[in-house]
Amino acid sequence: MSRRILVTSALPYTTGPIHLGHLFEHTQTDIWVRFQRMRGHQVIYVCADDTHGTGTMLRAEAQGITPEALIDAMREEHARDFSGFLISHDAYYTTHSEENRELSSLMYERAKAAGHIFNNDVAQLYDPEKQLFLADRFVRGSCPKCGTPDQPGDNCDACGATYAATDLVEPKSALSGAAPEVRSSEHYFFDLAPYAEDLRAWIDGGAVQPEVANKLAEWLDAGLKPWDISRDAPYFGFVIPGTKDKYFYVWLDAPIGYMAALKHLLATRNDVSFDDFWAPDSTSEVHHFIGKDIINFHCLFWPALLQASGFRKPTKVHAHGFITVNGTRMSKSRGTFIEAATYLEHLSPEYLRYYYATKISDGIDDLDISFDDFVQRVNSDLVGKLVNIASRCAGFITKQFDGLLSEQLPEPELQAEFAARSEAIAALYEQSNTSKAVREIMALADRANQYVAQAEPWNAIKDPARRDEVQAVCSQGLNLFRVLMAYIKPIVPKLAEDAEAFLGIAPLTWADSQTTLTAHRINPFKALFARMERKTLDAVVEASKQADAGGSAEVQAQVQEEEETVSDTISIDDFAKVQLRVARVVAADHVDGADKLLKLTLDVGDHQRTVFSGIKSAYDPADLVGQLTVVVANLAPRKMRFGTSEGMVLAAGPGGSDIFLIRPDSGAEPGMEVT
Ligand code: MSP
Ligand code: ZN
Repeated sequence: MSRRILVTSALPYTTGPIHLGHLFEHTQTDIWVRFQRMRGHQVIYVCADDTHGTGTMLRAEAQGITPEALIDAMREEHARDFSGFLISHDAYYTTHSEENRELSSLMYERAKAAGHIFNNDVAQLYDPEKQLFLADRFVRGSCPKCGTPDQPGDNCDACGATYAATDLVEPKSALSGAAPEVRSSEHYFFDLAPYAEDLRAWIDGGAVQPEVANKLAEWLDAGLKPWDISRDAPYFGFVIPGTKDKYFYVWLDAPIGYMAALKHLLATRNDVSFDDFWAPDSTSEVHHFIGKDIINFHCLFWPALLQASGFRKPTKVHAHGFITVNGTRMSKSRGTFIEAATYLEHLSPEYLRYYYATKISDGIDDLDISFDDFVQRVNSDLVGKLVNIASRCAGFITKQFDGLLSEQLPEPELQAEFAARSEAIAALYEQSNTSKAVREIMALADRANQYVAQAEPWNAIKDPARRDEVQAVCSQGLNLFRVLMAYIKPIVPKLAEDAEAFLGIAPLTWADSQTTLTAHRINPFKALFARMERKTLDAVVEASKQADAGGSAEVQAQVQEEEETVSDTISIDDFAKVQLRVARVVAADHVDGADKLLKLTLDVGDHQRTVFSGIKSAYDPADLVGQLTVVVANLAPRKMRFGTSEGMVLAAGPGGSDIFLIRPDSGAEPGMEVT
């Protein structure tokens, strides 16, 4: 029976690039999706950028662009990265959409009508300089328990204590350094407790993996606290209906973004409707793929909200563990925080898809990527085993038999053995036990290679009397190869496509594993897959290190939650590293899409440089030409959306139209060192 399935991957935050971690999740999801499609089921796979929150606002501000310009540009980048990895989303949308605004309001109104929304005052830290309420990660102070300085607003890295941000001793805003005030404001809460029993039933009904069910049981046993779903202005998000300046917390509208993406997609299709998926009595399936860090949102808040607003609950939430690289967390300084785009500049997406496939299981343990293992697995399995079968057999068929496969296969039992693994392998894919499916497939590839090695067509061909045998053996080999290609196609779709072209066949479906190809003409064999080179992987790591050197110059200590910590002072040694030089503005131009930036061409004495500077509010570009300024000459070049900035211009002033560069008549000359 054909199933109708909606599948999602967690929505990546708009504030950062797509990296190895996201790719693990999307690869896992995409393999599952492609498998289901090959089985003949109707699958819709959607994703989107998760765009709302203070982080988006601050990042846009730091880049001198509007949040809308930021999220549009990031979405384009993210979508391009995913398609580069052959991720087959049917839609890659955004949470900042009309569909999402309407659905969020609707679901909120229904939860409210059901009597499960209430208000309460909440005391929170407020940054008087930035004029906003500070999320926990934007506050730092001494731990109220052990006194360790410079701890975030939720828990202490030193002693592990958890506390409220208002408990921190001598707190400081990580955004401005100002001492925050405690301010009280009205928040909106969604009462989860009434849904506890229905959540338990949903969990016990097999909606989550056993390990996840255990975790959830602990939380449910501890009792579900009301969930704070509002944030105060200024915030980038949706205004809560009936309020002037209260916004939905980003995590309220983020999962609704799954529905909104579907709605957007279905506006151009009429084979299936929104209600087919989301009506309470729907017989369609909904599957979410997520990392284990966001289990509470997907397995408690989200199903409760769906129930409160009269929609069905997900069929299954598939959670996975976290990626580590060479045994530790991905690190920018080590070059193991690898962005999708950097990887794609050097390596084929299918190397990573395959390697990830060898790691994907239905558990939630963390998974380590080891570079040695990566290169070795790809080369020995894909090139050495799988493609090898075809390359050993194809030449004889093409050169000796004009591309024609024999009319009968010499080893029908062997062929039947391969076909018989179909349901077992399918069951493994179905459970996301992809690593086991790969093991099964590679064991069959070993069998196929053994068969060809024992039959030795390269010897038989020397004897004219054994020509038919050579044709039969090679046809058998290619038929085994064809079944293996069907089995592995969800993982390496491009390789499978190339194999289909070479075999001269229509796109393989799962059912094709049960049939054979005889008296059929194939096309000349071209190398299907190149070996993976370790030095190319090393180049990716090198390039990732450089990307960080540029990135760290960003004014974004603000929004990079974990990597940087804020410190009040620098040492004289730190300052001595900064090279300041006088520069003359040769040209100043507006930058398309940036409302605060100007592009400056600067003469620094012996050469010219391009610097992007957020001084547009104070200067008409025409007035700047010929002016003198001071640049930080040894700042690492920083890649921005508009181009690379090679340094930074120093200016002083309160901001707005009062920003001052140095005076033109001060007698300074371009290139002069500033001391
Ligand atoms: N925006 C939220 C999800 C909202 S879904 C309604 C979010 N975004 S995220 O960009 O931080 O993460 C997106 C997904 O990538 C999450 O499922 C997360 O677990 C996963 N990963 C991020 N880093 C990861 C690893 N290092 N390893 C594996 N997956 C990880 O959370
Ligand atoms: Zn502590």
